[in-house]
Amino acid sequence: MDFPRRWLFRMLLLFAAGSGILLTLYCSVRQRQRFLEPQAQARSITSPRATFEPKASNSKSRKNQPCQHPLSLAIQKDGHFRGLFDFSIPVLLWGGLFTQELWNDLSQHKVPFGWQGLSREAIISTLRLLDNPKSAELFGASKPLSCIRCAVVGNGGILNGSRQGQKIDAHDYVFRLNGAVIKDFERDVGTKTSFYGFTVNTMKNSLISYANLGFTSVPQGQDLHYIFIPSSIRDYLMLRSAILGVPVPEGPDKGDRPHTYFGPETSASKFKLLHPDFIRYLTERFLKSKLLNTRFADLYMPSTGALMLLTALHTCDQVSAYGFITSNYQKYSDHYFEREKKPVIFYANHDLPLEASLWKSLHNAGILWLYQR
Ligand SMILES: *[C@@H]1O[C@H](CO)[C@@H](O)[C@H](O)[C@H]1NC(C)=O
Repeated sequence: MDFPRRWLFRMLLLFAAGSGILLTLYCSVRQRQRFLEPQAQARSITSPRATFEPKASNSKSRKNQPCQHPLSLAIQKDGHFRGLFDFSIPVLLWGGLFTQELWNDLSQHKVPFGWQGLSREAIISTLRLLDNPKSAELFGASKPLSCIRCAVVGNGGILNGSRQGQKIDAHDYVFRLNGAVIKDFERDVGTKTSFYGFTVNTMKNSLISYANLGFTSVPQGQDLHYIFIPSSIRDYLMLRSAILGVPVPEGPDKGDRPHTYFGPETSASKFKLLHPDFIRYLTERFLKSKLLNTRFADLYMPSTGALMLLTALHTCDQVSAYGFITSNYQKYSDHYFEREKKPVIFYANHDLPLEASLWKSLHNAGILWLYQR
């Protein structure tokens, strides 16, 4: 094409598609601005729209209101993330999903991505206890009608002195994990806990390592549900024992009484189990670390915080992430509950730099809101 024709062609193209594209661009720019400045939005009296971070006072009245920032819409608008998210993958594993085919499939993958080398009897006897379809759902009957707003609270030092407690508690559901110290940090991290996510290994390590910093028991409560991450046979054995209300019969946790961790309630609906296929999908699509090409490959898995945040992104309509690693992590202590600043520890089995860049991209795409300061 010679110059004027090419120019005309472009003009026509712009004209035909432009209104839609420009509108989309305009909307996404507006949305990003609102995402980047929730503080300013919250303070603006003239703003007629709800802010991304709901306030405690209006949490009841907005039960039936549609989402202001549905993450599904932000995903659709993003060329990269649209190709990664697959909402058809089951997030939770329960008895109704067990078949010979599932056994065959998962037997080919190591934990936490499968059941390679695990006792079939241990797996089946655990899943048999999760026999109600409610075990497939995170929210169940208490689910708000229109827009599920979730806060996922990591344990990063950025939360020390953050005063985010009320905003965190204003979400419909609050996810916490591992050494989630609440006492004396209510103003910074809130008090509400809807879900506590862990592996038996990380939970017990947290209880040992952070006991002197105030983590003397995992969060408990009537409205609280536990999300087991099946990173070894220990998780299946502990889950089974928790529902049966008996001590763990074998393995490294032999003799542990689950109610000392989870409280007296033993109903199966209290306990949820992440699906190994979901963990594998998350790892392959979102957190495919270069560590998988090293001698640490067999150890590598996303961090507990990453698994909880990605679980929320696949089940909630809006997600805010607090206490997750940010690009300026060096300014903050490893955990918010430490008394003296400690550098962030980079474990060989996780890839925190990769997780940091994922949270940042998801934030920039308007798919989640990441607390930064
Ligand atoms: C947490 O904040 C308090 C008050 O600002 C400060 O004295 C303390 O050193 C901080 N802790 C860490 C681990 O940074």
